[in-house]
Amino acid sequence: MAIKIEQIKIGPLDNFIYIVSDETEKNCFMIDPAWDPALLDKYLNENSLKLSFILLTHTHPDHINAVDYFLKKDKELKVYFHKEDAFMYKAPKEQTEFMEDKREMEFADKRISVIHTPGHTPGSCCFLFDGNLFTGDTLFISACGRIDLPRSDGKELVKSLVKLSKLPDKTKVYPGHSYNGRSSSIAIEREHNLYMKLALKDEETFLRAMR
Ligand SMILES: [Fe+2]
Repeated sequence: MAIKIEQIKIGPLDNFIYIVSDETEKNCFMIDPAWDPALLDKYLNENSLKLSFILLTHTHPDHINAVDYFLKKDKELKVYFHKEDAFMYKAPKEQTEFMEDKREMEFADKRISVIHTPGHTPGSCCFLFDGNLFTGDTLFISACGRIDLPRSDGKELVKSLVKLSKLPDKTKVYPGHSYNGRSSSIAIEREHNLYMKLALKDEETFLRAMR
């Protein structure tokens, strides 16, 4: 089967929304739908795609402000996010699934692995699917997420960046914002991302650099 990853740049903060589709079965899941639900819906319609579920890397408003549109449209649809981020966003109970570290979900006969990466928010998660890593606001190209926001935690972010650095070299990195490009790899970030490098060898300097 053919998997397609559509990366859509939307909104005043240059968010990346991802629509991952199974071109054979014509279904898809969406990561962090925000800003322009009509445009996202148009993409689904034009490509005859059924939205199977929504995943959230975290629940900051710029990553979720189109979720309710899709949940209202399809009452069977579910949104998955980490419980630790529930203090910022509530969806109808019957449409909410909390997910935890190491949870595995199935899509197109492949696995989506949930990696809990707290720091930017307590419930931040990355998703590994078919060698692609969707990193939300945890890891950006040559940067990482802010830790000056409510319930951010720099020490946790250090641990999360170390965790991500251990993934295979060629793992493709798809960040949650268009900062410094569209995609990267774990090998490139391990070598060139100053924040990941500091997280790996000097937590103190990392924390000072983030102030
Ligand atoms: Fe964020």
